[in-house]
Amino acid sequence: MDRQQKIIEMFDTISPTYDRLNRILSLGIDKGWRRRACHTALKTYGKSAALLLDVASGTGDLVLYWNRASKKLNLPIDHVICVDPSVKMLEIARRKVSFAEFLVNEASAIEVADGTADLISIGYGIRNVVEIDRAISEFFRLLKPGGVLLILEFMQREKQSFVDKLMRIYISKVLPSIGRAISKDERAYTYLPESIAAFLTKEALVEKLQNAGFEIVEARDETFAISTSFIARKPQ
Ligand SMILES: C[S@@+](CC[C@H](N)C(=O)[O-])C[C@H]1O[C@@H](n2cnc3c(N)ncnc32)[C@H](O)[C@@H]1O
Repeated sequence: MDRQQKIIEMFDTISPTYDRLNRILSLGIDKGWRRRACHTALKTYGKSAALLLDVASGTGDLVLYWNRASKKLNLPIDHVICVDPSVKMLEIARRKVSFAEFLVNEASAIEVADGTADLISIGYGIRNVVEIDRAISEFFRLLKPGGVLLILEFMQREKQSFVDKLMRIYISKVLPSIGRAISKDERAYTYLPESIAAFLTKEALVEKLQNAGFEIVEARDETFAISTSFIARKPQ
């Protein structure tokens, strides 16, 4: 089995405990990051949207924040598609999200027509995509001119601050032991620190987005740069 298939299979395995563990391990701080990012991305788009694609949607958390932002800004999002290659993660999403459609696809090959999406998001998912350049080109293909891409991710850091060192201890020591106890699957929570360490820096992801043709609206670090939000636009 190749690396990508192993990652997808791991998410299938941890799907029943994913939401509970996430809530415990993130200490709830991701809620503010998600709320602000969806709000800012929709405000950046500035009009109602016919189609939102939430890629690597998992158990569907991010679309709930899009829904709230849409109500708050009074900018309707007519159609939402949650895209993820893990059938079991999407099964949980189906139970939580009543207003979306679900599509079992990888980010690098999404079966949706060119230039039809107003908004695309990928929350804490792009790190899992082995063919990242293909996925970024796919996002560009799918968006309408002027369409907005939102990426939330834990990035690798070139210089390690004191907080980074504390986070590293939390992620590599504390988090795997809690993860192991609750999900009984050690791989998933040793995978998290490993995948962050092997992932891109903020600057490298910005460069990839620009090379694909995107204009960067923001690349913003949140809470001591634990999480980073990227908002990019396909030029008109
Ligand atoms: C950490 S979860 C994030 C879930 C959700 N977006 C959130 O904000 O909580 C990562 C998701 O990426 C998905 N994934 C793994 N490989 C992928 C790929 N090649 N393309 C798209 N999604 C992928 C996994 O199945 C999993 O549901």
